[in-house]
Amino acid sequence: MEVDKKDERESDSSEQVVNPWEVSAKDGGKIDYDKLIDKFGCQRLDESLIDRVQRLTSRQPHVFLRRGVFFAHRDFNEILDAYEKGDKFYLYTGRGPSSEALHLGHLIPFMFTKYLQEAFKVPLVIQLTDDEKCMWKNLSVEESQRLARENAKDIIACGFDVTKTFIFSDFDYVGGAFYKNMVKVSKCVTLNKAMGIFGFSGEDHIGKLSFPPVQAVPSFPSSFPHLFPGKDNLRCLIPCAIDQDPYFRMTRDVAPRLGYSKPALIESSFFPALQGENGKMSASDPNSAIYVTDTAKDIKNKINRYAFSGGQDSVEKHRELGANLEVDIPVKYLSFFLEDDSELEHIKKEYGEGRMLTGEVKKRLTEVLTEMVERHRRSRAAVTDEMVDAFMAVRPLPSMFE
Ligand code: TYM
Repeated sequence: MEVDKKDERESDSSEQVVNPWEVSAKDGGKIDYDKLIDKFGCQRLDESLIDRVQRLTSRQPHVFLRRGVFFAHRDFNEILDAYEKGDKFYLYTGRGPSSEALHLGHLIPFMFTKYLQEAFKVPLVIQLTDDEKCMWKNLSVEESQRLARENAKDIIACGFDVTKTFIFSDFDYVGGAFYKNMVKVSKCVTLNKAMGIFGFSGEDHIGKLSFPPVQAVPSFPSSFPHLFPGKDNLRCLIPCAIDQDPYFRMTRDVAPRLGYSKPALIESSFFPALQGENGKMSASDPNSAIYVTDTAKDIKNKINRYAFSGGQDSVEKHRELGANLEVDIPVKYLSFFLEDDSELEHIKKEYGEGRMLTGEVKKRLTEVLTEMVERHRRSRAAVTDEMVDAFMAVRPLPSMFE
Protein backbone atom coordinates (compact mmCIF):
# COMPACT_ATOMS: atom_id res chain seq x y z
CA MET A 1 0.00 0.00 0.00
CA GLU A 2 1.00 3.52 -0.62
CA VAL A 3 1.79 5.13 2.70
CA ASP A 4 3.77 3.32 5.33
CA LYS A 5 3.08 5.42 8.38
CA LYS A 6 1.51 4.48 11.61
CA ASP A 7 -1.03 6.11 13.79
CA GLU A 8 0.97 6.95 16.90
CA ARG A 9 -1.62 5.30 19.08
CA GLU A 10 -1.03 2.03 17.28
CA SER A 11 2.72 1.96 17.38
CA ASP A 12 3.26 1.27 21.07
CA SER A 13 2.35 -2.34 21.78
CA SER A 14 1.17 -3.76 18.51
CA GLU A 15 2.61 -3.94 15.07
CA GLN A 16 -0.66 -4.16 13.24
CA VAL A 17 -1.40 -1.02 11.26
CA VAL A 18 -4.89 0.11 10.32
CA ASN A 19 -5.42 3.58 8.92
CA PRO A 20 -6.96 5.01 5.75
CA TRP A 21 -3.75 4.31 3.79
CA GLU A 22 -2.44 1.09 5.16
CA VAL A 23 -3.90 -2.10 6.57
CA SER A 24 -1.46 -4.78 7.63
CA ALA A 25 -1.48 -7.39 10.35
CA LYS A 26 1.27 -8.28 12.76
CA ASP A 27 3.90 -10.69 11.35
CA GLY A 28 1.78 -11.50 8.32
CA GLY A 29 -0.98 -12.90 10.57
CA LYS A 30 -4.62 -11.89 10.79
CA ILE A 31 -5.91 -8.48 11.76
CA ASP A 32 -6.82 -8.63 15.44
CA TYR A 33 -10.18 -6.87 15.44
CA ASP A 34 -10.67 -7.15 19.21
CA LYS A 35 -7.45 -5.27 19.71
CA LEU A 36 -8.55 -2.64 17.21
CA ILE A 37 -11.76 -2.06 19.12
CA ASP A 38 -9.73 -1.47 22.27
CA LYS A 39 -7.17 0.77 20.63
CA PHE A 40 -9.63 2.88 18.68
CA GLY A 41 -12.04 3.00 21.59
CA CYS A 42 -15.11 1.92 19.65
CA GLN A 43 -17.77 -0.51 20.83
CA ARG A 44 -18.48 -4.09 19.78
CA LEU A 45 -21.70 -4.57 17.84
CA ASP A 46 -23.40 -7.23 19.93
CA GLU A 47 -26.39 -9.51 19.42
CA SER A 48 -28.72 -7.27 21.41
CA LEU A 49 -28.17 -4.39 18.98
CA ILE A 50 -28.74 -6.66 16.01
CA ASP A 51 -31.99 -7.87 17.60
CA ARG A 52 -33.04 -4.26 18.08
CA VAL A 53 -32.39 -3.53 14.41
CA GLN A 54 -34.60 -6.47 13.50
CA ARG A 55 -37.40 -5.25 15.79
CA LEU A 56 -37.24 -1.63 14.65
CA THR A 57 -37.11 -2.38 10.93
CA SER A 58 -39.37 -5.45 10.96
CA ARG A 59 -37.04 -7.28 8.62
CA GLN A 60 -34.28 -9.81 8.86
CA PRO A 61 -30.97 -8.07 9.56
CA HIS A 62 -28.55 -7.96 6.62
CA VAL A 63 -26.15 -10.88 6.17
CA PHE A 64 -23.29 -8.49 7.03
CA LEU A 65 -24.90 -7.92 10.44
CA ARG A 66 -25.87 -11.55 11.04
CA ARG A 67 -22.35 -12.76 10.22
CA GLY A 68 -20.44 -10.06 12.10
CA VAL A 69 -18.93 -8.38 9.01
CA PHE A 70 -20.03 -5.09 10.57
CA PHE A 71 -18.60 -5.70 14.01
CA ALA A 72 -17.95 -2.35 15.67
CA HIS A 73 -19.79 0.90 16.24
CA ARG A 74 -19.78 4.26 17.91
CA ASP A 75 -23.10 5.40 19.41
CA PHE A 76 -25.20 3.26 17.07
CA ASN A 77 -27.30 2.48 20.17
CA GLU A 78 -28.10 6.22 20.49
CA ILE A 79 -29.24 6.34 16.86
CA LEU A 80 -31.58 3.42 17.59
CA ASP A 81 -32.83 5.00 20.84
CA ALA A 82 -33.75 8.17 18.96
CA TYR A 83 -35.27 6.24 16.06
CA GLU A 84 -37.44 4.31 18.47
CA LYS A 85 -38.83 7.63 19.71
CA GLY A 86 -39.57 8.71 16.14
CA ASP A 87 -36.41 10.72 15.40
CA LYS A 88 -34.86 9.90 12.05
CA PHE A 89 -31.22 10.30 11.05
CA TYR A 90 -29.26 10.50 7.81
CA LEU A 91 -26.57 8.23 6.40
CA TYR A 92 -23.18 9.36 5.14
CA THR A 93 -20.61 7.25 3.32
CA GLY A 94 -18.04 7.75 0.57
CA ARG A 95 -15.48 6.60 -1.91
CA GLY A 96 -12.05 7.86 -2.88
CA PRO A 97 -12.04 7.53 -6.67
CA SER A 98 -8.52 6.26 -7.28
CA SER A 99 -9.23 3.66 -9.95
CA GLU A 100 -11.66 2.91 -12.71
CA ALA A 101 -12.89 -0.36 -11.20
CA LEU A 102 -14.04 -1.10 -7.69
CA HIS A 103 -13.10 -4.39 -6.04
CA LEU A 104 -15.56 -6.45 -4.04
CA GLY A 105 -14.33 -4.96 -0.75
CA HIS A 106 -15.36 -1.50 -1.91
CA LEU A 107 -18.88 -2.73 -2.59
CA ILE A 108 -19.39 -3.89 0.99
CA PRO A 109 -20.19 -0.53 2.62
CA PHE A 110 -22.38 0.44 -0.33
CA MET A 111 -24.39 -2.81 -0.27
CA PHE A 112 -24.85 -2.38 3.47
CA THR A 113 -25.74 1.31 3.17
CA LYS A 114 -28.43 0.47 0.61
CA TYR A 115 -29.95 -1.96 3.09
CA LEU A 116 -29.84 0.65 5.87
CA GLN A 117 -31.45 3.26 3.62
CA GLU A 118 -34.30 0.90 2.74
CA ALA A 119 -34.76 -0.56 6.20
CA PHE A 120 -34.80 2.75 8.07
CA LYS A 121 -36.19 4.92 5.24
CA VAL A 122 -33.61 7.65 5.62
CA PRO A 123 -31.70 10.01 3.34
CA LEU A 124 -28.11 9.39 2.31
CA VAL A 125 -25.17 11.55 1.25
CA ILE A 126 -22.25 9.96 -0.61
CA GLN A 127 -18.98 11.85 -0.81
CA LEU A 128 -16.60 11.25 -3.73
CA THR A 129 -13.24 12.50 -2.51
CA ASP A 130 -11.71 13.29 -5.89
CA ASP A 131 -9.58 15.96 -4.16
CA GLU A 132 -8.16 13.33 -1.76
CA LYS A 133 -7.13 10.97 -4.53
CA CYS A 134 -5.72 13.81 -6.63
CA MET A 135 -3.42 14.64 -3.69
CA TRP A 136 -2.51 11.14 -2.54
CA LYS A 137 -2.35 9.27 -5.82
CA ASN A 138 -0.78 12.01 -7.87
CA LEU A 139 -3.68 12.02 -10.32
CA SER A 140 -4.53 15.17 -12.28
CA VAL A 141 -7.59 17.14 -11.18
CA GLU A 142 -9.36 16.20 -14.41
CA GLU A 143 -8.55 12.49 -14.11
CA SER A 144 -9.77 12.38 -10.49
CA GLN A 145 -13.00 14.05 -11.54
CA ARG A 146 -13.46 11.59 -14.39
CA LEU A 147 -12.88 8.64 -12.03
CA ALA A 148 -15.38 10.12 -9.55
CA ARG A 149 -18.11 10.03 -12.21
CA GLU A 150 -17.15 6.52 -13.30
CA ASN A 151 -17.22 5.32 -9.68
CA ALA A 152 -20.56 7.07 -9.16
CA LYS A 153 -22.00 4.72 -11.81
CA ASP A 154 -20.84 1.68 -9.82
CA ILE A 155 -22.31 3.16 -6.67
CA ILE A 156 -25.64 3.93 -8.32
CA ALA A 157 -25.65 0.36 -9.69
CA CYS A 158 -25.87 -0.87 -6.07
CA GLY A 159 -29.51 0.27 -6.22
CA PHE A 160 -29.79 3.53 -4.29
CA ASP A 161 -33.02 5.47 -4.35
CA VAL A 162 -32.53 8.76 -6.24
CA THR A 163 -35.31 10.41 -4.25
CA LYS A 164 -33.34 9.88 -1.04
CA THR A 165 -29.71 10.08 -2.18
CA PHE A 166 -27.31 12.94 -2.90
CA ILE A 167 -23.93 12.03 -4.41
CA PHE A 168 -21.34 14.79 -4.58
CA SER A 169 -17.78 15.28 -5.74
CA ASP A 170 -15.62 17.48 -3.52
CA PHE A 171 -14.31 19.44 -6.50
CA ASP A 172 -17.88 20.33 -7.43
CA TYR A 173 -19.53 20.77 -4.08
CA VAL A 174 -17.03 22.21 -1.56
CA GLY A 175 -17.97 25.82 -0.86
CA GLY A 176 -20.67 27.75 0.97
CA ALA A 177 -21.96 26.18 4.18
CA PHE A 178 -19.78 23.07 3.65
CA TYR A 179 -16.63 25.19 3.48
CA LYS A 180 -17.65 27.22 6.53
CA ASN A 181 -17.85 23.98 8.51
CA MET A 182 -14.45 22.90 7.15
CA VAL A 183 -12.88 26.11 8.44
CA LYS A 184 -14.56 25.66 11.84
CA VAL A 185 -13.18 22.10 12.09
CA SER A 186 -9.70 23.15 10.90
CA LYS A 187 -9.46 25.71 13.71
CA CYS A 188 -10.01 22.97 16.31
CA VAL A 189 -7.24 20.60 15.14
CA THR A 190 -3.60 21.38 15.83
CA LEU A 191 -0.77 20.20 13.63
CA ASN A 192 0.43 17.95 16.44
CA LYS A 193 -2.98 16.38 16.74
CA ALA A 194 -3.23 15.76 12.98
CA MET A 195 0.24 14.21 12.96
CA GLY A 196 -0.80 11.95 15.84
CA ILE A 197 -4.05 10.80 14.28
CA PHE A 198 -2.98 10.49 10.66
CA GLY A 199 0.78 9.97 10.87
CA PHE A 200 1.55 13.04 8.73
CA SER A 201 5.18 14.13 8.73
CA GLY A 202 7.10 17.24 7.81
CA GLU A 203 7.75 15.77 4.37
CA ASP A 204 4.04 15.64 3.45
CA HIS A 205 2.68 18.46 1.33
CA ILE A 206 0.20 20.77 2.99
CA GLY A 207 -2.63 19.55 0.76
CA LYS A 208 -2.70 16.31 2.75
CA LEU A 209 -2.83 18.19 6.04
CA SER A 210 -5.78 20.21 4.85
CA PHE A 211 -7.84 17.22 3.75
CA PRO A 212 -9.28 15.66 6.95
CA PRO A 213 -11.83 18.46 7.51
CA VAL A 214 -13.22 17.73 4.02
CA GLN A 215 -14.08 14.18 5.02
CA ALA A 216 -15.25 15.32 8.46
CA VAL A 217 -17.95 17.84 7.64
CA PRO A 218 -20.49 15.74 5.74
CA SER A 219 -21.13 14.41 9.29
CA PHE A 220 -22.87 17.72 10.05
CA PRO A 221 -26.31 18.36 8.53
CA SER A 222 -25.61 22.10 8.20
CA SER A 223 -23.08 21.24 5.45
CA PHE A 224 -26.11 20.44 3.25
CA PRO A 225 -28.47 23.43 3.46
CA HIS A 226 -30.40 22.24 0.37
CA LEU A 227 -31.16 18.94 2.13
CA PHE A 228 -31.52 19.68 5.81
CA PRO A 229 -32.58 23.30 6.28
CA GLY A 230 -33.47 23.95 9.93
CA LYS A 231 -32.51 20.37 10.85
CA ASP A 232 -29.21 21.11 12.54
CA ASN A 233 -29.86 18.45 15.17
CA LEU A 234 -30.37 15.59 12.74
CA ARG A 235 -28.02 12.78 13.71
CA CYS A 236 -25.64 11.22 11.21
CA LEU A 237 -24.74 7.52 10.90
CA ILE A 238 -21.62 6.55 8.91
CA PRO A 239 -21.23 3.01 7.54
CA CYS A 240 -17.62 2.27 6.50
CA ALA A 241 -14.77 -0.18 7.02
CA ILE A 242 -12.75 0.47 10.14
CA ASP A 243 -9.82 1.94 8.16
CA GLN A 244 -11.75 5.23 7.97
CA ASP A 245 -12.11 5.49 11.75
CA PRO A 246 -9.25 8.04 12.23
CA TYR A 247 -11.17 10.68 10.23
CA PHE A 248 -14.18 10.25 12.44
CA ARG A 249 -12.28 10.07 15.72
CA MET A 250 -11.14 13.55 14.81
CA THR A 251 -14.66 14.60 13.79
CA ARG A 252 -16.20 13.30 17.00
CA ASP A 253 -13.53 15.02 19.02
CA VAL A 254 -14.29 18.46 17.57
CA ALA A 255 -18.08 18.20 17.13
CA PRO A 256 -19.09 19.23 20.69
CA ARG A 257 -16.80 22.26 20.54
CA LEU A 258 -18.73 23.43 17.47
CA GLY A 259 -22.07 22.75 19.12
CA TYR A 260 -22.73 19.81 16.76
CA SER A 261 -23.73 16.20 17.49
CA LYS A 262 -21.04 13.58 17.11
CA PRO A 263 -21.62 11.32 14.10
CA ALA A 264 -22.36 7.69 14.93
CA LEU A 265 -20.50 4.95 13.10
CA ILE A 266 -21.09 1.35 12.10
CA GLU A 267 -17.84 -0.26 11.02
CA SER A 268 -16.91 -3.38 9.09
CA SER A 269 -13.92 -5.67 9.00
CA PHE A 270 -12.03 -6.03 5.71
CA PHE A 271 -12.91 -8.29 2.88
CA PRO A 272 -9.48 -9.94 2.63
CA ALA A 273 -7.08 -10.42 -0.25
CA LEU A 274 -7.30 -13.69 -2.17
CA GLN A 275 -3.87 -14.59 -0.80
CA GLY A 276 -5.00 -14.54 2.82
CA GLU A 277 -6.41 -12.64 5.70
CA ASN A 278 -3.54 -10.37 6.69
CA GLY A 279 -4.74 -7.15 5.15
CA LYS A 280 -7.19 -5.63 2.73
CA MET A 281 -6.91 -5.96 -0.99
CA SER A 282 -4.30 -3.93 -2.78
CA ALA A 283 -5.16 -1.91 -5.86
CA SER A 284 -1.55 -2.27 -6.99
CA ASP A 285 -1.83 -6.08 -7.22
CA PRO A 286 -4.72 -7.05 -9.54
CA ASN A 287 -4.36 -10.70 -8.52
CA SER A 288 -5.10 -9.87 -4.90
CA ALA A 289 -8.70 -8.95 -5.56
CA ILE A 290 -11.78 -9.59 -7.65
CA TYR A 291 -13.01 -6.50 -9.47
CA VAL A 292 -16.48 -5.64 -10.65
CA THR A 293 -15.02 -5.56 -14.17
CA ASP A 294 -13.62 -9.12 -14.03
CA THR A 295 -15.05 -11.61 -16.52
CA ALA A 296 -16.41 -15.02 -15.48
CA LYS A 297 -13.12 -16.49 -16.72
CA ASP A 298 -11.03 -14.02 -14.66
CA ILE A 299 -13.05 -14.85 -11.55
CA LYS A 300 -12.65 -18.58 -12.04
CA ASN A 301 -8.90 -18.29 -12.69
CA LYS A 302 -8.25 -15.99 -9.76
CA ILE A 303 -10.14 -18.19 -7.34
CA ASN A 304 -8.54 -21.40 -8.57
CA ARG A 305 -5.04 -19.98 -8.70
CA TYR A 306 -4.79 -17.51 -5.87
CA ALA A 307 -7.48 -18.09 -3.24
CA PHE A 308 -5.59 -19.33 -0.19
CA SER A 309 -6.87 -22.73 0.83
CA GLY A 310 -7.12 -24.21 4.30
CA GLY A 311 -7.44 -27.68 2.74
CA GLN A 312 -4.75 -30.33 3.26
CA ASP A 313 -1.96 -31.14 0.76
CA SER A 314 -3.30 -34.53 -0.25
CA VAL A 315 -6.84 -35.89 -0.59
CA GLU A 316 -6.05 -38.66 1.94
CA LYS A 317 -4.83 -36.17 4.52
CA HIS A 318 -7.77 -33.88 3.79
CA ARG A 319 -10.29 -36.69 4.30
CA GLU A 320 -8.57 -37.49 7.57
CA LEU A 321 -8.00 -34.00 9.02
CA GLY A 322 -10.44 -31.73 7.20
CA ALA A 323 -9.82 -28.13 6.19
CA ASN A 324 -8.58 -25.38 8.48
CA LEU A 325 -11.51 -22.99 8.13
CA GLU A 326 -9.74 -20.29 10.12
CA VAL A 327 -7.38 -19.52 7.24
CA ASP A 328 -9.46 -20.63 4.27
CA ILE A 329 -10.26 -17.78 1.90
CA PRO A 330 -13.03 -19.46 -0.16
CA VAL A 331 -15.03 -20.09 3.03
CA LYS A 332 -14.32 -16.56 4.22
CA TYR A 333 -15.55 -15.11 0.91
CA LEU A 334 -18.66 -17.30 1.02
CA SER A 335 -19.38 -16.03 4.52
CA PHE A 336 -19.64 -12.51 3.06
CA PHE A 337 -21.62 -13.29 -0.06
CA LEU A 338 -23.50 -16.59 0.21
CA GLU A 339 -26.90 -15.49 1.48
CA ASP A 340 -28.23 -18.88 2.52
CA ASP A 341 -27.27 -19.45 6.17
CA SER A 342 -27.99 -23.17 6.09
CA GLU A 343 -25.96 -23.79 2.93
CA LEU A 344 -23.02 -21.92 4.47
CA GLU A 345 -23.23 -24.02 7.63
CA HIS A 346 -23.42 -27.19 5.55
CA ILE A 347 -20.28 -26.24 3.55
CA LYS A 348 -18.37 -25.37 6.71
CA LYS A 349 -19.25 -28.67 8.33
CA GLU A 350 -18.56 -30.87 5.31
CA TYR A 351 -15.36 -29.07 4.34
CA GLY A 352 -14.13 -28.72 7.93
CA GLU A 353 -14.58 -32.46 8.45
CA GLY A 354 -12.89 -33.40 5.18
CA ARG A 355 -15.89 -34.72 3.25
CA MET A 356 -15.88 -31.75 0.88
CA LEU A 357 -12.72 -30.83 -1.07
CA THR A 358 -11.24 -27.39 -1.76
CA GLY A 359 -12.10 -27.70 -5.45
CA GLU A 360 -15.80 -28.10 -4.65
CA VAL A 361 -15.82 -25.08 -2.33
CA LYS A 362 -13.96 -22.97 -4.91
CA LYS A 363 -16.48 -24.03 -7.56
CA ARG A 364 -19.41 -22.87 -5.41
CA LEU A 365 -17.62 -19.60 -4.65
CA THR A 366 -16.97 -19.06 -8.36
CA GLU A 367 -20.70 -19.46 -9.04
CA VAL A 368 -21.71 -17.06 -6.27
CA LEU A 369 -19.24 -14.33 -7.24
CA THR A 370 -19.79 -14.66 -10.97
CA GLU A 371 -23.52 -14.28 -10.47
CA MET A 372 -23.00 -11.24 -8.25
CA VAL A 373 -20.47 -9.53 -10.51
CA GLU A 374 -22.59 -10.15 -13.61
CA ARG A 375 -25.64 -8.73 -11.89
CA HIS A 376 -23.61 -5.68 -10.93
CA ARG A 377 -22.34 -5.28 -14.48
CA ARG A 378 -25.84 -5.39 -15.90
CA SER A 379 -27.03 -2.73 -13.42
CA ARG A 380 -24.03 -0.56 -14.15
CA ALA A 381 -24.58 -0.79 -17.90
CA ALA A 382 -28.09 0.59 -17.30
CA VAL A 383 -26.78 3.68 -15.47
CA THR A 384 -26.87 6.61 -17.89
CA ASP A 385 -25.12 9.99 -17.66
CA GLU A 386 -28.51 11.56 -17.01
CA MET A 387 -28.95 9.30 -13.99
CA VAL A 388 -25.53 10.35 -12.66
CA ASP A 389 -26.53 14.00 -13.14
CA ALA A 390 -29.80 13.35 -11.31
CA PHE A 391 -28.06 11.83 -8.26
CA MET A 392 -25.45 14.60 -8.24
CA ALA A 393 -27.80 17.57 -8.71
CA VAL A 394 -27.85 19.96 -5.75
CA ARG A 395 -31.56 19.72 -4.95
CA PRO A 396 -33.95 19.11 -2.08
CA LEU A 397 -35.05 15.49 -1.47
CA PRO A 398 -38.76 15.96 -0.74
CA SER A 399 -39.56 12.33 0.11
CA MET A 400 -36.39 11.54 1.98
CA PHE A 401 -37.99 10.32 5.21
CA GLU A 402 -40.83 8.31 3.66
P1 TYM B 1 -12.09 4.05 -0.30
O1 TYM B 1 -12.41 4.45 -1.69
O2 TYM B 1 -10.71 3.59 0.03
O3 TYM B 1 -13.06 2.90 0.15
C1 TYM B 1 -14.47 3.02 -0.03
C2 TYM B 1 -15.18 2.29 1.10
O4 TYM B 1 -14.84 0.91 1.08
C3 TYM B 1 -14.30 0.51 2.33
N1 TYM B 1 -13.30 -0.53 2.03
C4 TYM B 1 -13.47 -1.83 2.35
N2 TYM B 1 -14.45 -2.44 3.02
C5 TYM B 1 -14.33 -3.78 3.22
N3 TYM B 1 -13.28 -4.49 2.78
C6 TYM B 1 -12.27 -3.92 2.10
N4 TYM B 1 -11.25 -4.66 1.67
C7 TYM B 1 -12.33 -2.51 1.86
N5 TYM B 1 -11.53 -1.58 1.25
C8 TYM B 1 -12.15 -0.40 1.35
C9 TYM B 1 -13.74 1.78 2.95
O5 TYM B 1 -13.68 1.73 4.35
C10 TYM B 1 -14.77 2.80 2.49
O6 TYM B 1 -15.91 2.77 3.34
N6 TYM B 1 -11.52 8.45 2.09
C11 TYM B 1 -12.49 7.43 1.72
C12 TYM B 1 -13.74 8.01 1.03
C13 TYM B 1 -14.74 8.58 2.01
C14 TYM B 1 -15.51 7.85 2.95
C15 TYM B 1 -16.31 8.82 3.63
C16 TYM B 1 -15.60 6.49 3.28
C17 TYM B 1 -15.09 9.91 2.13
N7 TYM B 1 -16.04 10.07 3.08
C18 TYM B 1 -17.21 8.44 4.63
C19 TYM B 1 -16.49 6.10 4.27
C20 TYM B 1 -17.29 7.07 4.94
C21 TYM B 1 -11.84 6.42 0.79
O7 TYM B 1 -10.85 6.71 0.15
O8 TYM B 1 -12.51 5.21 0.71
